[in-house]
Amino acid sequence: MTMLALTVRPPVPGSAELVKVPEPDPADGTVLCETIAVGVDGTDNEIVEGQYGEPPAGKDRLILGHESLGRVLEAPSGSGYAPGDLVVGFVRRPDPVPCDNCAAGEWDMCRNGMYTERGIKGRDGFLSERFRIEPEFAVKADPALGRLAVLTEPTSVVAKAWEHAERVGRRARWEPRRALITGAGPLGLLGALLGVQRRLEVHVLDVVEEGLKPLLARDLGAVYHAGTLEEAGDMFDVVVECTGVGPLVFHAIEHLAANGVMVLTGISGAGRTRELAVDVLNKDLVLANKAVVGSVNANRRHYEQATEALAKADPGWLDRLVKRWVPLAAWAEALERREGDVKTVVEIGRI
Ligand code: BGC
Ligand code: ZN
Repeated sequence: MTMLALTVRPPVPGSAELVKVPEPDPADGTVLCETIAVGVDGTDNEIVEGQYGEPPAGKDRLILGHESLGRVLEAPSGSGYAPGDLVVGFVRRPDPVPCDNCAAGEWDMCRNGMYTERGIKGRDGFLSERFRIEPEFAVKADPALGRLAVLTEPTSVVAKAWEHAERVGRRARWEPRRALITGAGPLGLLGALLGVQRRLEVHVLDVVEEGLKPLLARDLGAVYHAGTLEEAGDMFDVVVECTGVGPLVFHAIEHLAANGVMVLTGISGAGRTRELAVDVLNKDLVLANKAVVGSVNANRRHYEQATEALAKADPGWLDRLVKRWVPLAAWAEALERREGDVKTVVEIGRI
């Protein structure tokens, strides 16, 4: 038995290929799923371009895809899953040592870097006709969400960012009012959704002036700004940074209110350099108790928060966020970055 899978050979650029591979290895988990949909993001693009990614030990091919949605075909009794359930598999697995955080289920905070990530680092991903998952590394998706539950993984990433902003905020009395989301891609817009659900005044900053991004931001009830931080204003209690643009990141510190927290979720390989007034920046951070925190990945708690947030969201809004659903055979189109794109998803099975 074989199945189709989208594979790459990191670090070879342009090695993406739809090939027949053996059925999912039982070592991947006891729950067998048919794949419904897999979202693609910048990380997938980087892997395809040969800048990131690592195949499983002893192999040269990696099955791509980390934003999963599957439907259970087989699950052992007592696993908590039954045929027909919709499931989202987690991306990261704890390191084998394990470090203190991985041992505590906080693999998203791994300290030794020896974690693995499905579809990214040392473990096959979900972009195949079927996948297997360990019951303890998955959440059930709300059937009412249907195929839109494929947004669970990117939502988990911003759910962690918001949770960490709040945990830092609560070091003292914390009554945030204004939030800024930099970048109106899928992460930024999902981050804005979580801010609006917290009843904050949410501002979204991006460079595009028209199209789906401003519409989606405004339809959430957020204020959309095209251009610079000056236009977005200042005194933000929370900034969720989703661009990874270094100069913008450091400039945004000035736009935080006293005690404000900025969580960084984006990265960029652009290699920009800047001269910075570092003493001024330091003084601002110290005298205003400002915090800047990096954030990556998500643990079970954040997937659960994401599931809850998506269940509360307007399904019509989520539906517009996925601009393109691409069939597996046309996978190359899913990896193209087209003007006006927000989220692109490879659709493999039907609900
Ligand atoms: C994924 C994360 C992952 C990160 C770094 C992101 O695209 O959503 O789960 O930790 O890439 O590999
Ligand atoms: Zn670890």
